[in-house]
Amino acid sequence: MDHLKRSEFPKDFLWGSASAAYQVEGAWDEDGKGKSVWDEFVRIPGKTFKGTNGDIAVDHYNRYKEDIQLMKEQGLKAYRFSVAWARVFPEGRGEVNQKGLQFYIDLVDELIANNIEPVLTIYHWDLPKALDDAYNGWESREVIADFANYSKVLFETFRGKVKYWVSLNEQNIFTMLGWMMKLHPPGKNDPKMFYQVNHHANLANATVINLFHEMNMPGMIGPSFAYGPNYSLDSNPLNVMAAENSEDLNAHFWMDVYAYGEYPIMAMKYLEENGIAPEILPGDMDLLRSAKPDFLGLNYYQTATNAWNPLDGGVGIGEMNTTGKKGSSKETGLPGVFKRVENDHLERTNWDWEIDPTGLRIAMRRITSRYRLPILITENGLGEYDKLEEGKIHDQYRIDYLSSHVSAVRDAISDGVNVLGYCTWSYTDLLSWLNGYQKRYGFVYVDQDETMEGTLKRIPKDSYYWYKKVIEENGSNN
Ligand code: BG6
Repeated sequence: MDHLKRSEFPKDFLWGSASAAYQVEGAWDEDGKGKSVWDEFVRIPGKTFKGTNGDIAVDHYNRYKEDIQLMKEQGLKAYRFSVAWARVFPEGRGEVNQKGLQFYIDLVDELIANNIEPVLTIYHWDLPKALDDAYNGWESREVIADFANYSKVLFETFRGKVKYWVSLNEQNIFTMLGWMMKLHPPGKNDPKMFYQVNHHANLANATVINLFHEMNMPGMIGPSFAYGPNYSLDSNPLNVMAAENSEDLNAHFWMDVYAYGEYPIMAMKYLEENGIAPEILPGDMDLLRSAKPDFLGLNYYQTATNAWNPLDGGVGIGEMNTTGKKGSSKETGLPGVFKRVENDHLERTNWDWEIDPTGLRIAMRRITSRYRLPILITENGLGEYDKLEEGKIHDQYRIDYLSSHVSAVRDAISDGVNVLGYCTWSYTDLLSWLNGYQKRYGFVYVDQDETMEGTLKRIPKDSYYWYKKVIEENGSNN
């Protein structure tokens, strides 16, 4: 809708930016850190772009002070980062590795000393390998107690210092890529296990949200979900139905559980009919219903346009573009349910991600209408090639992307959505899990590439200065 007058961003709006431990820290075996499933997965030939890994990443572990200095100069209000579980518990459980925990204590103290609000993600995909060895990680209900124990240590350590907590990052993505698409650890295609793993992750998420509230932790906690609203290709009712199927199976299936503790009726019926529904034990649903997140973290990159996909001969799991060769992704779908098609109204990045700022506004409105939860945008950004020219990066394309999305957030606020903050992805350039270092997201360029022998020098891009101004003006010109 058009408004007679657009609302302003709230005064205490968290203008932030984000990262994740494995993608920035490096120091993969320093100071007693245990191995994670990613430390192992990246060493399997053919799994990542040109065999890139996060052994060094962008060396944030040793350069966090320099990075925070840049944040301060930019005026950043919030920094979202994740804790590497295996740094704190090398075996995933048992003894705490004090040196590993100390890194995060120092990081948080440094952020606070520079007036930057820490936003802590407890789990951003780097499960301790020891837990995978012991009981196949998320495939076992044992993970719930270990995740709760690990979270409790973080709650006790950062009580009063960290006010914003993200429980799980993109449960839908790490499980889909791990147990359906064979692209993330453990590299399986097992639909039944995929839903079982998700049930365990839901229980783990609910357990730590309840723990946070039982411990009367000051602040707020919620999961971050990768939500791309589903559109119908056109008004053909079959395509509209396909979009609704996708919305139910690809979005409500998680968000309904987070917000209400209920699995969506049609999605569950479909899983039962196909023999892939998770095993739900007595008491599980009570636990899920009892846990109420304080906000929903939204990671938004793109929307999905859907068309009908017949059961007989329909399109199955396609291929992702991880090379940066535009047009190299392959159509993907679920026969009898939906297939994802190109949207002629939208431009695409070199990695075939559709650029749709209005989709962000739609995402925020849908979440607000269905769940009535405050939203913290925990990721939004553009992964593109950047070119260093005479010591500068003129990333006008990123400025265009981000400013159109900031504007969409303001429109959503004008529509009545309650937004706590907006974190771009990412602060510095970092390792893009499957796409190596060439797909860059940061405000700050880092001299690191596929050879992993860069100088690691930091250079603020044009977008860094653009965001500085946005923060100064509290978004009033967007
Ligand atoms: C999100 C993740 O899925 O998107 C990030 O939380 C990730 O960790 C980001 O890097 C961008 O995805 P990609 O595949 O381009 O790195």
